[in-house]
Amino acid sequence: MNASATENIYLPKTAVLDRIVTEIPDVKTFYWRFDDAAEQQAFKRFRPGQFAQVSLFGVGEFPASLPPSPTEKETFFTIRQVGSCTAALHQLKAGDRFAVRGPYGNGFPMEEYYGKNLVFVAGGIGLIPLRSCIVDALEHRDKYQRIQIFHGAKTPGELMYVSKLHEWELTPGVECHLTVDRAAAGWSGNVGVVGSLFAKPGVHVPVENTIAFVCGPPIMFRFVIKDLLAMGFQPRQIVSTLERYMKCGVGKCGHCCIGVAYVCVDGPVFTYEQIANLGEDI
Ligand code: FES
Repeated sequence: MNASATENIYLPKTAVLDRIVTEIPDVKTFYWRFDDAAEQQAFKRFRPGQFAQVSLFGVGEFPASLPPSPTEKETFFTIRQVGSCTAALHQLKAGDRFAVRGPYGNGFPMEEYYGKNLVFVAGGIGLIPLRSCIVDALEHRDKYQRIQIFHGAKTPGELMYVSKLHEWELTPGVECHLTVDRAAAGWSGNVGVVGSLFAKPGVHVPVENTIAFVCGPPIMFRFVIKDLLAMGFQPRQIVSTLERYMKCGVGKCGHCCIGVAYVCVDGPVFTYEQIANLGEDI
């Protein structure tokens, strides 16, 4: 986060909702912009993997990852309705106002991955925090080797950003592999956990010179990590974003501490090596 000495880093800035798109049941994408055009310009310097705090007037505040790439025209959040704040956001309509502060956190060091293969593994809404990295990587396609995206959900209707996935796989050197736990009428793709895609005929996941991005529910995360380590990945080759209840977002309140790390400042992006050293049980 860049802040001048006089800027109040806690102050939410008002924003207006432009449009709302339902992605899957209980998950909507909210396209928004700051009321102040200068704020909008300043905010768009965020890095993939950073997050922001979203305020609903009279209700409260919650942390939200930033799924757009910084170079995309629109800013948006994709939010699952899980509590009172997210429920309040889900009630809003185009033209309504809320507030945003941030961006916060470290983000993915994408420049450090130049020249490498990128493997994205996302379970369910775990694709939301990875979307920014995927779009950023595609915008700098010549900087990376192969790009593979593995995405799984419980049912076909719960796969995230499906039209985007089909768009992304049209880029040369990019593969998208989808799976569901339970098939439904019309589904002819893979059935099984997301890790089952690694062993699919025709799929080869390179281990050398590769970074694996893994996000999803804890059970999926544990199994995918086990699979990747068995394939020969080193813990430092695996990166993820940790979810914690952030309050201040700037390393002051201590709500997000794991061991000696403040997830809001030192994270939310960590390598699996760092996560294991923190003693985090996920
Ligand atoms: S959210 Fe307050 S220290 Fe991290």
